Amino acid sequence: MILEILKFPDPILRVPAPPVRAVTGEIAELMDNMLETMYAAPGIGLAAPQVGVSRRVIVLDLDHENRGANVIKLANPEVREAEGEVVYEEGCLSVVDFTAEVKRAERVLVGGYGADGEELEIEADGLLAVALQHEIDHLDGKLFIDRISRLKRDIYVRKLKKAVRTGKEPEESRGVVI
Ligand code: NI
Repeated sequence: MILEILKFPDPILRVPAPPVRAVTGEIAELMDNMLETMYAAPGIGLAAPQVGVSRRVIVLDLDHENRGANVIKLANPEVREAEGEVVYEEGCLSVVDFTAEVKRAERVLVGGYGADGEELEIEADGLLAVALQHEIDHLDGKLFIDRISRLKRDIYVRKLKKAVRTGKEPEESRGVVI
């Protein structure tokens, strides 16, 4: 089932999500619906608060040519180790019509629980490392625009307000939509 993706400035995106107590069938179903929503958008990652569910659940798939082959579904994900520094031009399904360069750790070790409740640990670098950090940020009520300069953020907010006022169609974004 395709779910509605909430957009900035929806206040639900700002609420830190509580952990999942157990990966039940309901959570597994949520993960599947989030994946379907993410593919349809399309994006490479989605966090539960973006579909209005305040729980620590994320899904990712960087390989849309072989959808499903490299899916990551995680409940209660956490960054256990991080090193290095990398800059990517990021976008977000909840932040329409805007991308910006964001600095994050280059390599991360992320732990969490899979769709069957199994414990997982994922070592990631490059875009996957960036996407994991971006999704985990969503669970803490943070958006990538919180990680850019205030000046750039203000420019975006003004642009968004103008777009809402004029009903103008969003432009194609250049970065990677996470
Ligand atoms: Ni996002």
